[in-house]
Parts: sequence; structure tokens; C-alpha cells
Amino acid sequence: MKTALPFELVLNRRQMLKGGASLGAAGTVLGTLGLTACNGGRNAPAELGFAAVAASKADVVTLPPGYAARVVYALGDPLDENTPDYANDGSEADFATRAGDHHDGMGYYPLPWGSEASDNGLLVMNHENITEAYLHPNGPTAVDGQRPAAEVRKEISAHGISVVEVARDGRSYATVRDSLFNRRITPNTPMRLAGPVAGSAFVQTAFDPNGLRSRGTLNNCANGYTPWGTYLTCEENWHGYFVTQEAEPPREKSRYGIDDASNYGWETAAGAADEQADEFRRWDTTPTGADATQDYRNEANTFGWIVEIDPYDPDSTPIKRTALGRFRHEGCWPSRALPGQPLGFYMGDDARGDYIYKFVTAAAYQPGLSDGRMLDEGTLYVARFDENGRGQWLPLTLDDPRLAEAFGSQAELLVNTRTAADLVGATPMDRPEWGAVDPRSGEVYMTLTNNRNRGQVAGQEVDAANPRDYERGDGDATTDGNTHGHIIRWREDGDRADATGFTWDIYVFGSPADAQAEVNVSGLDESNALSSPDGLWFDPRRANGLLWIQTDDSALADFTNNQMLAAVPGTVGDGSAVAIGEQISYVGAAPGGDLRRFCVGPVECEITGIATTPDGRAMFINIQHPGERGDASAPTSSWPAAGGDATATPAAGARPRSATIVITRNDGGVIGE
Ligand code: FEO
Ligand code: CA
Ligand code: CA
Repeated sequence: MKTALPFELVLNRRQMLKGGASLGAAGTVLGTLGLTACNGGRNAPAELGFAAVAASKADVVTLPPGYAARVVYALGDPLDENTPDYANDGSEADFATRAGDHHDGMGYYPLPWGSEASDNGLLVMNHENITEAYLHPNGPTAVDGQRPAAEVRKEISAHGISVVEVARDGRSYATVRDSLFNRRITPNTPMRLAGPVAGSAFVQTAFDPNGLRSRGTLNNCANGYTPWGTYLTCEENWHGYFVTQEAEPPREKSRYGIDDASNYGWETAAGAADEQADEFRRWDTTPTGADATQDYRNEANTFGWIVEIDPYDPDSTPIKRTALGRFRHEGCWPSRALPGQPLGFYMGDDARGDYIYKFVTAAAYQPGLSDGRMLDEGTLYVARFDENGRGQWLPLTLDDPRLAEAFGSQAELLVNTRTAADLVGATPMDRPEWGAVDPRSGEVYMTLTNNRNRGQVAGQEVDAANPRDYERGDGDATTDGNTHGHIIRWREDGDRADATGFTWDIYVFGSPADAQAEVNVSGLDESNALSSPDGLWFDPRRANGLLWIQTDDSALADFTNNQMLAAVPGTVGDGSAVAIGEQISYVGAAPGGDLRRFCVGPVECEITGIATTPDGRAMFINIQHPGERGDASAPTSSWPAAGGDATATPAAGARPRSATIVITRNDGGVIGE
């Protein structure tokens, strides 16, 4: 038996398509998979109750008839009464009491705690990154390669997390500007390390020689949550903020992409006359002191984790839960919380050719008794997808002789989670993004957004016979791999989060509507064509939760701005096992009218982050980085329009702002139904 696919999961499909013929013509349908899946007590299927919106390139939010959207919380919006309104001209000194940039993963936490309140709650959201061009009067500057301290400070403070109270305001919602819950967490905020890595030599720094505390969280992408009411934020592309000048960096740096260049050059401000507490020096991980307690060689080891935040306690210290592994964490999605059973947390490492993971708690979930300590003890697994539609969870522990040989402790293994996964033969994936757990069945969906450079993964060559590798017609195999992405899903054996085996198929393949059949495998049309699925979320409110799909297609399909769709998905195995030649692929039923475009965003934005109020009548989503390719002198988007109507055409010339919007129905009904 093979221990791993040669490279990406969609190998099956790639092989299947080797003949270059359409499925209908050449595929042999073997019949539906013989799964023992039950319906888990489902009610009648939900139905989508809106008319699909057309693809759009307009600089507005487009919604179905009968819907409205207002801007709730945009870049720079004040969190307290002492902070003036945002000038949006680059003049602000920092974002410590303002909304950060690049709103991303987000949750709604009812007030008070434990209630189902829909008229009042906390939005907790990530500020993943920045569009530097709009944060300064004339874009970022440097003198002799050195960034000004004031600019760097501002950029640092625009990253991190917001906790902001919102309350119903007529038919819409508004922030509560003086709420005691309002809070910014930034790359400077003190944090605590917990789990096996806490207190180990790998996280000793000049900031805390004991390796128990660290500073800040960075590049927070998607989010998760726990059944006990906390928020999980996920550190994704943190490696890009660090440098090292080491000729041969250790594997905990090299395997994660830390080299001698950083995204924004924050480390170049080190030594500024007013530098405080090594606020700039910490981004350079080159060893300079006598040992790790004298410098920041280990600073990057304090990043790459899942971080737990209690939004209901504004004084709480965020906790880095190291047992869940260190990689480019996109997100962290819990299994269903079933009393008496362990919890599973599903996670993806968003890089070309990296992996999907699951953490299973050692303790069983007990409502009212469980808390964050459950996240400190358990087993981290990495996924291997086999060619027969089955898969295995491979434990990453020192019980595996290969891992015992490579690592001296579980702490060392976890700091090097990627290397451990390499050693056990995990299946490289096409950039895992968001996951979502079907509240009915416990089935797990995960977006694999795309992989333009598939030919460069693991030394494998692109399959020249695969139409998806050549659909743009330029024949450039090294830049044109799995262009439009897909959504994989799996069902754990016995429907238990602690299963070590599962059955998988592919729910939908992304594609433009007019692509050839070999590309448009799922038969998408003008009402639901999509590319580069990223955000993914089941509305937990309904017994028949709708699945929401958000896209982050930065360049590859030009038929629309980024969008959000709603779906009524089926179950693993509802499609067919399709054979071409000797290969079999498992493809879900064509979604047809059960997948429909709900919303299109403004120019150059990504749509990401999603939460509804418990009554389902208000949906919050984030419009991230509109106009990201422009600059202050020539913005390519000016969204949002003054006045706060997210669907209104903005006056040209203003700088664009990332923002949270709230979507409501004019008749007050449930969103999507
Ligand atoms: Fe932050 Fe993988 O998207
Ligand atoms: Ca993402
Ligand atoms: Ca993204």
C-alpha cells in the first residue's frame, strides 16, 4: 500500500483527466459510494431563498433584491470617545484605539455571556495584514534602507485583533464606542504560552528568559471558537515579518520560510533613538548574544500558534496553545461538541504543498466544566489522503520511532510541526484555507484555494496533459497549476472526532462558467461560478445549516470581483466514483441550484470573515483590502462610500478602507432563506 499520494490530493482528478476528455464522454460512473452514512436526524433540506446575483466588477457590495448592507466598523474607526474620527489621509499616529487593517476571521459573541442575544454582542475579529500604501501620507518610506520608527509603530499597531461591542440600531447595527469590552490586541500585547512548548528552551527570549511569556500575535487569518465561549485566532503568514542573517538557519526557521528579507522591514528601525523594549530589534532573529536569553533568535518560535482569547474579559491575557502545532495556521474549527466525547480541532497550513491537521483533546467534553486547559493535552494528527477515497490521521508523537529519532522532546517536535508531518508521509495539499463542520453530521469541509505553482511542489512536474494546468492557454506549467481550487470534505469513521480513519470526496471544483468540461467538473454556471474558495462557514443556527463560501481570487479569474455564495451541501459520497483509465476520483453531486452567488464585493477586495446573530437575521462579513493594488495618489477603489451604505457607489479619489459590514433583509427575515 502506498503511504502517501505523490503530491496533491487532486492527483486523482489530475490523473483522471489525463486523457483530456470530458467526464461525460470518457468517465465511467461506478455508482454512488457505498457509504454507511446516515442522515443524522436531518430535517427536510433547507432551501436557498434568494435570487442569485450576477458576477460584477463594480466598486460596491452587490446583494440580492430585498437585502441591505451597512458599514459597521472600518479601518481607523475609533473604539473610545477620546479618539477622533478617522481622517483617512495617513495622518494618524497609530491604531491602538482604532480598528486595524485587513479585517479577516470574525465571531459574534452575545451579551451577556451565555445568552442568545441578537441585539447586542461583541464582534471579535482579526486584522490580518496592512495595505501600506494607504496608511501613510504618501506611502511607506525608508532612508538608507531604514524605516522610520513612527511608520513601523503605526504598521505594527494596525495588525492584531479587535474586540468591539455592537448593538442593534434600527434595522441595522452600530458599534458601541465607549464599551468597556472594546479592546485592541496587537503584536505588542503580552501573551502567555501554554502546552508542551511553554517553558522550553525553544521559546526562551530576552523578553522572557523563562520561555513562558511572549509578545503579540501576527497575521491573524481565519478564526475558530470553543464551546466554552472563547475565540481562537490563527497565526498565518507570520514568517514574513522576521529576518535572520544566519548562513544556515535552523529548521524551525528554514522550513517556515524565514530568510534575510521581511515584508515591511520593521527590523530596520532597530536602534532608533526612541526604540522601547526592543520593539524593532525583536524582528531580527539572528543570534547576537551569548545565549537565547540575550537576543531574539527564538522570537519567531513564539509565533505560528493557535491563540485563545476570552472576549468577555477585557483584562484577560491571550494564551498560545502550543499543543495544536506550529505552522502557517489558517484557522481552527472545532468538531461538534458532544458531551462525553473528545473534541477535535481541524486546521490547515496555508502553503503550497503543506498539510491538514487535527488536534484531539485528551479529555472528554463536559458542558459547563470544560475550559481552555483542554487545549493543552491531546494528540496532534496530520492527514494522509489515500487514492481509494479513504484517509488516515497520522499521530505526531514520539511514539513514532521516526519522530523519536528526529526530535528530543514533544516541544521540539511541535516547534517543528511541518518537519514532523514531512517525516510521517502526510499528503501535500493545494493551500488549505478555511474549514467548516456540518452541524448536522459532523462532516468537515475545507477549501483548497488554488495552487498556481503546483509544478514546483515537492519536485513534481506539472502534468502537461491536465487541462487545468493549461486552461489559460499560455502553456506555462510552472505558473498555472490548480488555478481555481476546490472544496474537499470528509466524514470521520463512526462520526467521532477522535477517529483515526475517514472517507473523503470533493464537494465542488471551482471554475468559470464558460470553461471546458475538463475544468468545470462540477458543472457551475453563471449563477455560481467561483474561483479560489477561501472563507467557509456553516450557519450553526439552523438544523439544516447553510454553507457559506467566500472567495479570495487575487488574479486568476477575471469574470468577477470576489464574492460570497450560499449552498445547501449534501453529504460525503452523494456523488459518484468516476474512473478514467485505472484511476478513480470521488466527486460530489453537481451542486446545481443548491449553490448560488449571494454577494459580490468591491474592486480588489477579498471577502472573508463571517458571523450571524443567533436569530440569523443579521450577518456580519468583512471586506478586506479593497483597492489593494492602488496607492494614495491613485486609489483603485474608493469603497466604502461616505454615509455607510455598503452598496452605494463611492465618490472617486478617497482612500479605500477594509471594513466589517452587516447584511440585513428589508423584511427582517433570516439571511439566505
Ligand atoms: Fe490569510 Fe490563507 O489566507
Ligand atoms: Ca484565507
Ligand atoms: Ca486570503
